[in-house]
Amino acid sequence: MAAANGDMATESLFSSSLISPAVVQALPEGYTIRPLQRGDYDLGFLDVLRVLTHVGDIPKQEFEQRWEEMKGGAGGYHVLVILDGQHKIVGTGALIVERKFIHHLGLVGHIEDIAVAKDQQGKKLGLRIIQALDFVAENTGCYKTILDCSEANEGFYVKCGFKRAGLEMAHYY
Ligand code: ACO
Repeated sequence: MAAANGDMATESLFSSSLISPAVVQALPEGYTIRPLQRGDYDLGFLDVLRVLTHVGDIPKQEFEQRWEEMKGGAGGYHVLVILDGQHKIVGTGALIVERKFIHHLGLVGHIEDIAVAKDQQGKKLGLRIIQALDFVAENTGCYKTILDCSEANEGFYVKCGFKRAGLEMAHYY
């Protein structure tokens, strides 16, 4: 039973073949990058997201339920994590592949929820996360990738190769 639980904990949200070999090579010594796993609740995943915004107090069962929903989402959700040498999650980012009718059934990548732990910022981990998500987008057939960010983060995304396009608008409910 313990072994079965262990296997479930290491189940990946998406295929490891979508992890960029170039990004794996470029990480600092001892660091690894991989798809989000079901057991990542225990490795500090939500704490990393807390550098980005309010996360709330999420019980493990609810985390796993959301993970299942993402896994069942027609291959659309690609949440990846970077771990340091102590197997602690220190960075994360997501690429959601949107399926369209326009542009001849085109696919568009949406980059969401990029976060690097405060004490790990400035080591190019954010750049590596974006490069890894770009690799996923290209290899799942997206014709472009878009994201929303604050003015304060524009410089980071410009360094990652993005350019300003359009205007973000929102309704809050
Ligand atoms: N403005 C301008 N340049 C920046 C910024 C910034 N805010 N942040 C980093 N850079 C530059 C770096 O100096 C570096 O430049 P260099 O190549 O000339 O040395 C380059 O961008 C790459 O920086 P990294 O070291 O990869 O950045 P880091 O690992 O610190 O991650 C991140 C950047 C993700 C913005 C991090 O600071 C963070 O987690 N912030 C809090 C959460 C957040 O705001 N996330 C983004 C939300 S937007 C979204 O999710 C779509």
